[in-house]
Amino acid sequence: MWKPIERIKYKPIPGKWPTVQEAESSLLFTPFQQGRLSLNQRTWVPAMVPWRATEEGEVTKDVIEWYQRFAQGKPGAIVVEATGIRDVPSGPLLRIGHDRYLPGLKKIVETVRAASDGETKLFIQIIDFLSIKRRPDKDKFLTRFLKVTDEIKEKLAQPDWSEDQIRAHLCTLDDDNLVKVLDERQYESLTRGFRERVTDTEYAHINELPQTLPDLFSAAAMRAEQAGFDGVELHYAHAYTMASFLSRLNTRTDGYGGSAQNRVKLPLKVFQQVRNEVSKDFLVGCRMLTEDCIDGGSELDDSSFFATEFAKAGMDFISLSRGGKFEDAKVPKVGQAIYPYTGKSGYECMPGHFSDKFGPFGRNIAPGEKIFSAIRSSGLGTPVVTAGGIHSFDQAEGILRNEQADIIGLARQAMADPDWFRKIKGGHGNQVNLCEYTNYCEGLDSKHKVVTCQLWDRTELDQKGVSKTADGKRRTTAPPWKK
Ligand SMILES: Cc1cc2nc3c(=O)[nH]c(=O)nc-3n(C[C@H](O)[C@H](O)[C@H](O)COP(=O)(O)O)c2cc1C
Ligand code: SF4
Repeated sequence: MWKPIERIKYKPIPGKWPTVQEAESSLLFTPFQQGRLSLNQRTWVPAMVPWRATEEGEVTKDVIEWYQRFAQGKPGAIVVEATGIRDVPSGPLLRIGHDRYLPGLKKIVETVRAASDGETKLFIQIIDFLSIKRRPDKDKFLTRFLKVTDEIKEKLAQPDWSEDQIRAHLCTLDDDNLVKVLDERQYESLTRGFRERVTDTEYAHINELPQTLPDLFSAAAMRAEQAGFDGVELHYAHAYTMASFLSRLNTRTDGYGGSAQNRVKLPLKVFQQVRNEVSKDFLVGCRMLTEDCIDGGSELDDSSFFATEFAKAGMDFISLSRGGKFEDAKVPKVGQAIYPYTGKSGYECMPGHFSDKFGPFGRNIAPGEKIFSAIRSSGLGTPVVTAGGIHSFDQAEGILRNEQADIIGLARQAMADPDWFRKIKGGHGNQVNLCEYTNYCEGLDSKHKVVTCQLWDRTELDQKGVSKTADGKRRTTAPPWKK
């Protein structure tokens, strides 16, 4: 992953842990109620893909155990990982694009209810994404995949050459010369792998996204309701379809791109259809970005406008993230696919312990506060969840007291220690295993390997009943808390 050039190393700052009485009188551990959203405490485990589903996107024992372990900590809410809404192969990513997924999803719900004694609300993040291809072998690309266009022929100025001669010649060129002959997208497909964009309206399936996505999202949301979830989180963040509609890079000319008013149209349309089709008590919120964190991407003005529109439309919560884009991602190796969390915007999404003067702890709090204030200024009370490097009680409580957000999200800290919530509430903060923000977990994620935490994945491996990765080297859930 990209790291800031300053490379200042940060350690988590635990601060002073509260006593039981202090925790009891804190905002963090008091119930939250606003509109349809009611939580036992103002804590939230945001979505994290742990790559534990089958190749067909089915729930496995490992998926169940992963959520069971989070639920044992009894946070206010857990959001189940990004789950694909289409019934198409997507590797070991969880899917909700067909009724056959219902039994597995129901099992997650039952397990979380039991493990949290009914104290934790459970949402599922539903996602759409466009196609990306692995970076091709150069010769294969030039001899097979590349479309030899008139522009290429003109640039080569060899009118008598056959297509085969052109391909053979291109194979002899180095990158400095190829970049002069191929157009931007062709060169990108060669050096990074082909990636669809929402602006590729020459493809019918992309042109028609405004017509197809509302049905796909609402069918997925209805399944989530059938499975027993408390609600859905529409994935409008990071590198995926809906965030790409919201991004300033969306220049579609069909009324769904260009101005911020046009870019928010499809996300609102999707929300409206989902809201209309699920029951009135079922929650519908979204995850969105405070900032794209890429050149030419959306900024706080855009996202404040989007969030206010979502709030006006009646969303039940807005969970904030930042960055995580394809545009600045690291160039993949041949045979690998580009991964959106490897560039600067990826760093902003999951900041690691080597950082700049701002450090990795709470980089999204101030931008999130702007969005929170924009929603409140329009007279709406829509709950806002913030996240990013939050790990101490003081930091979390401070955000709530300073009215920077309503709910505190802890992703990696909850993975490092799923009992963070119970330990602190019970006056045992000194027993918390603090996340070191090394991004070891993120490294596994980027290779689509089963995600675990380095603080616990090699401990007590021979304990009876411990589930392990296929190679037997890592345990797949945190060991139980021994008080
Ligand atoms: C392994 C891993 C997987 C993630 N998967 C998702 C995801 O499916 N959806 C999402 O919105 N964010 C995802 N994230 C981002 C987190 O939800 C969170 O926004 C980010 O890690 C910053 O919060 P933190 O500092 O508390 O970890 C993932 C993060 C990690 C580390
Ligand atoms: S591996 Fe564990 S300690 Fe390291 S960043 Fe991930 S959750 Fe934190």
